[in-house]
Amino acid sequence: MARGEVPADEADEAGGVVAVVLAAGLGKRMRSTLPKVLHPVGGRPMLLRVLTAARDAGVGRAVVVTGVHAARVEEAVRAEGEALRPLEVAFAHQDEPRGTGHAVQCALAQQPPAGAASLLVLPGDAPLLGPDVLGALLRRHRSSGAAATLLTAILPNPEGYGRILRDAAGRVVGIVEERDATPEQRRVREVNTLACCFRRDLLEEALALCRPTNAQGEIYLTDAVGLLAGRGERIEAVLAEDAEAVLGVNDRRALAAAEAALRRRVLERWMDAGVTVLDPQTTFVDERAVLGQDCVLHPFTVLEGACEIGPGCTLGPGAHLRDSRLGAGCVVWHSVVEGSELGPDCRVGPFAHLRPGCRLGRGVQVGNFAELKAAVLGDGCKQHHHSYVGDAELGPGVNVGAGVITANFDGRRKHRTVVGAGAFLGCNVNLIAPVEVGAGAFVAAGTTVSRPVPPDALAVGRPEVVVREGWAARRRQEGNRPSGPNEEGTPGHGPTPG
Ligand code: UD1
Ligand code: CA
Repeated sequence: MARGEVPADEADEAGGVVAVVLAAGLGKRMRSTLPKVLHPVGGRPMLLRVLTAARDAGVGRAVVVTGVHAARVEEAVRAEGEALRPLEVAFAHQDEPRGTGHAVQCALAQQPPAGAASLLVLPGDAPLLGPDVLGALLRRHRSSGAAATLLTAILPNPEGYGRILRDAAGRVVGIVEERDATPEQRRVREVNTLACCFRRDLLEEALALCRPTNAQGEIYLTDAVGLLAGRGERIEAVLAEDAEAVLGVNDRRALAAAEAALRRRVLERWMDAGVTVLDPQTTFVDERAVLGQDCVLHPFTVLEGACEIGPGCTLGPGAHLRDSRLGAGCVVWHSVVEGSELGPDCRVGPFAHLRPGCRLGRGVQVGNFAELKAAVLGDGCKQHHHSYVGDAELGPGVNVGAGVITANFDGRRKHRTVVGAGAFLGCNVNLIAPVEVGAGAFVAAGTTVSRPVPPDALAVGRPEVVVREGWAARRRQEGNRPSGPNEEGTPGHGPTPG
């Protein structure tokens, strides 16, 4: 369910729930200097995915429990700024990772959730949990009035997860962590996802009774479930239909699995919408991207950030686009396009680099080792070979010859180059910015343009060419003799012309 799809009355009710997001663990199994919950999946830190899912399920307030990495985690959440609205996020600190139950106690003590009768506890390391499944969990908890409602899943390989224990009648009686489980309990394939709802008063009571008498010496949130069940309280369970969505990321293998799952979901959505993906294994599309009908994605195509691709574009092999917009019918292959906008029917590549701030009109062709930065190229411009156009504005139909360079940087500041419509820039032209070449002007190959060229003018500036008849032949003959200085010098040894 996307943002805004929660019915208003339900959203209000969910808004009364406070989410406690656990993010204070050490994440040792990641073997990383980056806090586990900040590892990105699909380009976004896992914790932010969890918070967004809670927000989209209608949760109004979240308390994030942080530990040793508190500063970095808080910074990452704050950096989201408005993006998480209307979710309000507060932080609680857990000095030492003494377990998931202890983490919840820290949240309740430091950020008492005034007025909230229920709590939604969420793991910070479950990046694929979506608002739909969280919404279902919240609804069941509300409608059943249970003491606790767990989100569970049946996994073909439940290794590493806490197992759900049920009695003969199928009622949940507890959760046992894998490390503490008997061989028989380990055979249970129904697992705890750690996403769960609790009546707040009952949870507080139960946690106060939990003891760290387990393999890890921690206060387990999961023990509260067994305690409540033992007191005759009702425990509900919602089984997630999509087992993949509950994946908890504890190590880099699981991180890769989460990445692959997310990527496949995004690609399948676009395939269903009429986009051809030749090789999903090597194609990466950020979930924020928007693609038009009949786009074709060849292998090794990467769309990062919020790209908008018009209908009928062909991307790849080897297209890497970031935060860019393409009109209909563009072709980009073996090239990098960052923060740029392309009109319809542009052709980019192979081996072009559009750095941020470029705007290409209709039918522009750029390729073969062309670099552009903050360049505006009018309709039909061609920049085919080895060249650099930066901080420049080219009118329609400009030809940029091989080796054209805008010298836009004087060592201190950047300067602009302006080239009028239909101008011709020959090979190896240097444009010493700030400079202007008028519309229809012709700049001859090898010219260094250091002053304005009026419209329709010819600009030519080349060193005089010296030609010496027979010189090369004489040099070859000299080369056959044993030694001796070459009176006329050889190229590379500084021949003096004249
Ligand atoms: C936990 C559950 C397990 C469940 C699994 C689902 C417990 C005891 N176990 O195991 O039943 O199957 O998640 O993925 O709850 N954290 C803290 N403070 C701590 C410890 C952990 O904030 O002291 C946070 C971590 O940062 C993490 C989350 O809680 O985001 C879960 O901790 P983790 O160590 O990953 O628990 P699991 O072993 O995966
Ligand atoms: Ca985990």
